[in-house]
Amino acid sequence: MIILKSPQEIEKIRASGRIVAGAIEELKTRVRPGIRTKELDKIAEEFITKKGGIPAFKGYRGYPNTLCISVNEEIVHGIPSERILKEGDIVGIDLGVLLDSYYGDAAVTLPVGHISDKAKHLLETTEVSLYRAIETAVIGRRVSDISHSIQSCVENAGYSVVREFVGHGIGRSLHEDPPVPNFGEPGKGPQLKEGMVLAIEPMVNAGGYDLEVLENGWTAVTRDRSLSAHFEHTVAITRNGPLILTMI
Ligand code: MF3
Ligand code: CO
Repeated sequence: MIILKSPQEIEKIRASGRIVAGAIEELKTRVRPGIRTKELDKIAEEFITKKGGIPAFKGYRGYPNTLCISVNEEIVHGIPSERILKEGDIVGIDLGVLLDSYYGDAAVTLPVGHISDKAKHLLETTEVSLYRAIETAVIGRRVSDISHSIQSCVENAGYSVVREFVGHGIGRSLHEDPPVPNFGEPGKGPQLKEGMVLAIEPMVNAGGYDLEVLENGWTAVTRDRSLSAHFEHTVAITRNGPLILTMI
């Protein structure tokens, strides 16, 4: 069941999303060769708590941390650790906040120092696919129009879209209906209506789309160990068009 949100509720999600975006901005200034992923997690947790929010992932299905930090061939759900980031890595940072009973959720993939042109192109393509998808999120279109726009953008660039993880509705729960796959034929699935709020999150592999989950039960990596990138925004469908809620 898809829960439509009132303008007041959308404002609450936006308030939560502002904290998400603020934390990401802070992390952008801190990501560099030599930093441990655990340190980034601590920075984010302190930022969120200081703003009155609650880290949304910590404790979710037993997840141990504030951030998911996924490096290089890690797709999503990497667990912060003593790992030290090094020049040339790409680091996916995924972050959710609960504020006043509403969730915001966003992700970016950042370069660590100087990265290869190949890695840069993967990041750019994944981010562009997200913004194309957001442009598609207008009243009257269907969920799979979003999916299709991501898939065509990504595959035209010679990359592949992950199948096992999808975007989602969001509001009083972190994950609500509808699922928002990053692939599929256009014109299918629920019609987009005013008041829908969706977390759109393309996960893009430089090689094949197959993945495996590591022994820790969380970290998804590309099966062929190719690089992977992830970008996400929480977006409201409004009569004035798509509204990105995870912005400062
Ligand atoms: N942003 C991701 C999602 O929307 C991560 C949540 S998984 C968690 O599904 F368990 F780490 F919280
Ligand atoms: Co999400």
